[in-house]
Amino acid sequence: MKNTNKLNINGKRLWSDLMELGRIGQQTTGGVTRTALSAADQQARQWLLEKMKAAGLIVNVDAAMNVIGTLEADEPQTEKIAAMGSHLDTVPSGGMFDGALGVVAALECARTLRENRVNLPWNLEIISFCDEEAAHHAGTVGSRAMMGLLQEGEIHHTKNKRTPTFAQNLEHWGRDPAQIDTARRRPEEFAFFLELHIEQGRRLEAENLRIGVVTAIVGIYRYIVSVPGEPAHAGTTPMSLRKDALVEAAPVFTLLPQWVRERNPEMVGTIGQVSLEPGASNVVPGECRFVGELRSQIAEDMQAVREQLKAYAAQREGWRVETIYEKNSVQLTAPLIDYIIDAAKSEGFPWTRMPSGAGHDAQSMAAFVPTGMIFVPCRNGVSHSPAELIEEDNATEGCQVLLRTLLQLSARGRESLCVSPAVPRHQ
Ligand code: GLV
Ligand code: MN
Ligand code: MN
Repeated sequence: MKNTNKLNINGKRLWSDLMELGRIGQQTTGGVTRTALSAADQQARQWLLEKMKAAGLIVNVDAAMNVIGTLEADEPQTEKIAAMGSHLDTVPSGGMFDGALGVVAALECARTLRENRVNLPWNLEIISFCDEEAAHHAGTVGSRAMMGLLQEGEIHHTKNKRTPTFAQNLEHWGRDPAQIDTARRRPEEFAFFLELHIEQGRRLEAENLRIGVVTAIVGIYRYIVSVPGEPAHAGTTPMSLRKDALVEAAPVFTLLPQWVRERNPEMVGTIGQVSLEPGASNVVPGECRFVGELRSQIAEDMQAVREQLKAYAAQREGWRVETIYEKNSVQLTAPLIDYIIDAAKSEGFPWTRMPSGAGHDAQSMAAFVPTGMIFVPCRNGVSHSPAELIEEDNATEGCQVLLRTLLQLSARGRESLCVSPAVPRHQ
């Protein structure tokens, strides 16, 4: 391989792409709504496909609507594939960097390699995973489909009775949900997977660090709780005769955070989605459905609070608790952590090791494929918000560390990467 010690990504082009992509799904109130398989998400997919083609990548959209662009090596020295990427979907009213940075930076690395005629020992895949953000039911759908981690029938479920399922949205875009299993890949195909992402927390900024080297990704357990009531006229039904589902459910909105705080100050728990049936201002709620989420690096903490929630529900008539998914924390791959640290050092950026409190596609990959993650700071640690912001330098530096890691792996990693990934801990 030619000398790549001085190879630099084009930070201006990376930033300009991020700004262009950020206009897809941009709201007048600021923020981006590009929920998975929406029209805006599909527009972003088309945008990416065009950029990939222009960069000389061979493109494919698989049965889970993951976008894959391949930079083929002239003379591959292994059949294994190097993979990098993240996701383009956002939460409702999210930011323009969560996920997008990792995809666009991976593309920028591929462009830089091609322009400089750097021939890697492996084919390089740039992947944009579909529905990382749990728009329909569970999240990380595309990466779990790729790793064979989808749960039976889950693409036919939604958290909210009113929104289409992942399967229905696949059909909307002309895809056959019955084919989703064909998105599955053999983990052995991959030499490694790398994901660059914004930190979504305050630590890097507070400590004046430029790069976070991720050691582990948090576990996430999610449940749909349905609480029954009796729909009735809001004007004519006396208070004494009502069975109001929202009022029944309300104590849990404060109890769940309290159980979490009591269990472990480092654990978090959120009720971020509540829906009422039939959902009209003049009807007493006949049903309240809410999504309770628990996150921790420690499985026993999430299990303990889950049991409190289930016990509370079991004591009440008609309450149902449905598991969306229970995903334990995963460790990222030790040799890759070292490669990323070396890359940050060679680029001269102050770095630290840190766990991730956010979920990522890397979590699905890490169960089976050697996986590494790089964080860059974001302003005030804010994410999943229109206020999410990074500086151009953060994007450039993160992308540069991504490229350097890839180059160092390409130069000397082929043998050392025959390591097993973290022990699978998905359930
Ligand atoms: C993804 O962003 C998550 O942490 O939920
Ligand atoms: Mn996110
Ligand atoms: Mn993300």
